[in-house]
Amino acid sequence: MIKTKWDHFYKKTYQQRLDLIAEEVGLSASRLSRLVNDSTVPQNLIENFLTDYPLPAGVVTNLKVNGQEHLVPMVTEEPSVIAAASNGSKLLASGAGIKAEVVSHLIGGQIVIKDFPLAELTQFVDEHRFELFAVANGSHPHILQYGGGAQKVGIRKLDEHFTSVDLAVDPGEAMGANTINTMLEAVAAWLQQKLAVTVTMAILTNFEAERIVQVNGNVPFSALATQSMSGETVAKRIADASRIAQIDHYRAATHNKGIMNGIDAAVIAFGNDWRAVESAAHSYAAKDGHYRGLSQWSISATGLVGHLTIPMPIGYVGGATKVLPLAKINQQIAQVLNVHEEMKVIAAVGLAQNLAALKALVTDGIQKGHMNLQLNSLAMANGATTEELPLVIDRLRKMKQPDSTDVKQILRQLRR
Ligand code: MEV
Repeated sequence: MIKTKWDHFYKKTYQQRLDLIAEEVGLSASRLSRLVNDSTVPQNLIENFLTDYPLPAGVVTNLKVNGQEHLVPMVTEEPSVIAAASNGSKLLASGAGIKAEVVSHLIGGQIVIKDFPLAELTQFVDEHRFELFAVANGSHPHILQYGGGAQKVGIRKLDEHFTSVDLAVDPGEAMGANTINTMLEAVAAWLQQKLAVTVTMAILTNFEAERIVQVNGNVPFSALATQSMSGETVAKRIADASRIAQIDHYRAATHNKGIMNGIDAAVIAFGNDWRAVESAAHSYAAKDGHYRGLSQWSISATGLVGHLTIPMPIGYVGGATKVLPLAKINQQIAQVLNVHEEMKVIAAVGLAQNLAALKALVTDGIQKGHMNLQLNSLAMANGATTEELPLVIDRLRKMKQPDSTDVKQILRQLRR
């Protein structure tokens, strides 16, 4: 094993870790003091903990899902995201509100087996299906208390060497990653014992095609009108934008990034694994071999109709939701009482976020709406105080392409 000076860093006390880092990179005393954090929760959540990393947390307003209004907490560093989501939510609330449904709720995983006759493996799994489920559930008996458990098993031939035994499990209220990984390892060991198979790996899949939420919404033409465009024209242009995201992967990637702007921000606020949600969303977007927009918008006789189908691998209990204090508070702010409600609300934010982005794109362009917020962060990043902000922004708005140098100069003048 290679030895480095960082070996056993995680065994050092918190103060020793900070001191070592400060010494290594020459952190000033004031920078070092910014890192100090005596909260024990994150110290036990990750290894080599240094500090909390605060991100702005806000709330989306006007989101109406299945007849109920929700205030959804969002954590994001992108200035326009929450304003846009609230705007999209308001547009959708002006129609019948968003209808959301969890259409499936299983987490999947795979045991990849090398060089074993497919027919023999298939026959064994078919004949011992319930024994296999019992092995899986027996490795994680807790799961049954929450109404979950192993539900399905299937076999997929990957190529001439590799076969995947796919297990699907109802995770109940949990995200289920640890649960299914425990189950898969138990089933893998059992298969090795019964059939002497060579197992290459046993791991969950982030392709979550059986943990799906569908959301639908509509907006009357009248709510979409701008000063220079009729509501019908705006709706038609949004439908065109939606079509482009189906036929062009360049655009699909950006379209979906807009959806994930809202979804990730809410997923983080609820203390969940946003990388899993991202991975699931993008692999689902490419499920037919062509990467496409996850939402579709079309025209009805009276307005614009939107639809989003998206995997939502999150948990309401367990994992970081249990230890991050804000996660539970955020569930209360959002008034979500179980995992299905949380899945639906998050997906609804995605649809609202997407609508706001498309509307801006096909009307004024994205920069106009972003401008104030961008100027705000430009000014703050360069040291403007809350009192100085209005004056600085006012001057910046009059400039063509203001940058940091302009802010600094304005501040110098103001402070003189
Ligand atoms: C920016 O973060 C997201 C957008 O680019 C999304 C889109 O283009 O649909 C505005």
